[in-house]
Amino acid sequence: MAEADGVRWDGKYSGRTAGPPCLPEVFVPYSDEFPIAGHAVELACGFGQASVWLAERGLTVEGVDVSAVAIEQAQGLAARHGVSNRCAFSVTDLDDGLPPGPPAAVILCHRFRDPTLYPAIGDRLAAGGLLAISVLSEVGAERGPFRARRGELRDAFAGLRSLAAGEGDGQAWLLARRPRS
Ligand SMILES: C[S@@+](CC[C@H](N)C(=O)[O-])C[C@H]1O[C@@H](n2cnc3c(N)ncnc32)[C@H](O)[C@@H]1O
Repeated sequence: MAEADGVRWDGKYSGRTAGPPCLPEVFVPYSDEFPIAGHAVELACGFGQASVWLAERGLTVEGVDVSAVAIEQAQGLAARHGVSNRCAFSVTDLDDGLPPGPPAAVILCHRFRDPTLYPAIGDRLAAGGLLAISVLSEVGAERGPFRARRGELRDAFAGLRSLAAGEGDGQAWLLARRPRS
């Protein structure tokens, strides 16, 4: 299944070049909430634009994606921006679960949805760590197998302290922090 995903995404990405480092648009108004140190994990990082943005901010970043084409672009982007020493990108199939690693100051996941990973994502956050997640949603869109039902992120991450959230126009997103105690 994920092998097929890798081939499919390699095809989509092939011939394209990574744009500049940036946060996904939905999180831009909250950019000050992102820490300037610590370890970040970006799930399904694609071309790594957000990972490199986090690395430029001062974090060390682990970016994973099933597409080898995307990961090569992400590595190139990090090199062009002089942050390769703070970025570790790898071809990783998230169908196998979240890769192990230290508690994360930030977990970013934009436009990739796998509800089976939600508990591990919450567990991997360090105390005070920030989760920034956005998924396709059924709210304001046709129902579909890849779309979150209404309230899915709120329910899955009820143990975190929500800073901001939105649901509509086919997208759901959440910015939330793990309580310190
Ligand atoms: C819609 S793109 C989003 C990419 C990036 N987060 C962004 O916002 O530009 C979905 C990403 O999920 C990745 N992906 C799909 N299935 C995956 C899997 N099983 N494991 C890891 N990554 C996967 C794809 O390769 C693709 O880069």
